[in-house]
Amino acid sequence: MFNFLPMPATITDVRQLTDRERLFTIRLDNERILRHRPCQFVLISLFGIGEAPISISSPPVDSGKTFELCIRSMGNLTNAMHKLSVNDKIGIRGPYGNGFPIEKIGGKDILIVAGGLGLAPLRSLIKYVLQERGRYRRVILLIGAKRPGDILFREEISEWERDPAIETHITVDAADPSWTRHVGVITGLFRHIDIDPLKTIAAIVGPPVMYRFVIREILAKGVFEGNIYLDLERRMRCGVGKCGHCQINGIYLCQNGPVLSYLEARKLQEAL
Ligand code: FES
Repeated sequence: MFNFLPMPATITDVRQLTDRERLFTIRLDNERILRHRPCQFVLISLFGIGEAPISISSPPVDSGKTFELCIRSMGNLTNAMHKLSVNDKIGIRGPYGNGFPIEKIGGKDILIVAGGLGLAPLRSLIKYVLQERGRYRRVILLIGAKRPGDILFREEISEWERDPAIETHITVDAADPSWTRHVGVITGLFRHIDIDPLKTIAAIVGPPVMYRFVIREILAKGVFEGNIYLDLERRMRCGVGKCGHCQINGIYLCQNGPVLSYLEARKLQEAL
């Protein structure tokens, strides 16, 4: 049974990640635990402004009753959200969407491809997999950003790069003088990785333009279409299958998505 009423919640921490993105730590005032899956989303509401869907960036079990939302300042609600600080109140509905099919990845190699803001929902999956590391084989992470200053979660990425439990590769489209790493679009990183196609499950989140090219690289390595998952979280409004706003060719992304296999997503020509 869906609850349409926003739950009151309190901001308990705010961290500036880049010029445009901040990470908000939120606690529900009723002390409820969100109990989400990686790549699910919530609707945040600000009184007098409205609602917006935001992916959850923290893993299901992290610091108990809090969860994290990475929010880019890009519209009325998100601009207003960036003006809020610790102890301010917001409304939360959710979690919504199907989330990443974590039950499918046990015993598999996991290839995670994050472009730009796509790292925000995928951070939930990455941290979940690292917490449950013994259940998986290789974990390979490819990260792309436009510029070095746009890279989210830089400190955590540095930790992942030092951690033998995860193979991390990073690139930027355009370097600055401080950048000593790979330069070029994210598909250029595929030259540096070997994968076992029969044992690999891929998770991709990034700007729409990225999907087609990344999927092409993964298919070229022999991964089955049904083992490539995309997060198509777009155009959400009600979050519960009522408004039809997220519908593409009869599929309600807020209900049957936002995570779809490429096999399913291919039917939604418009989405890719
Ligand atoms: S967001 Fe309203 S039906 Fe999906």
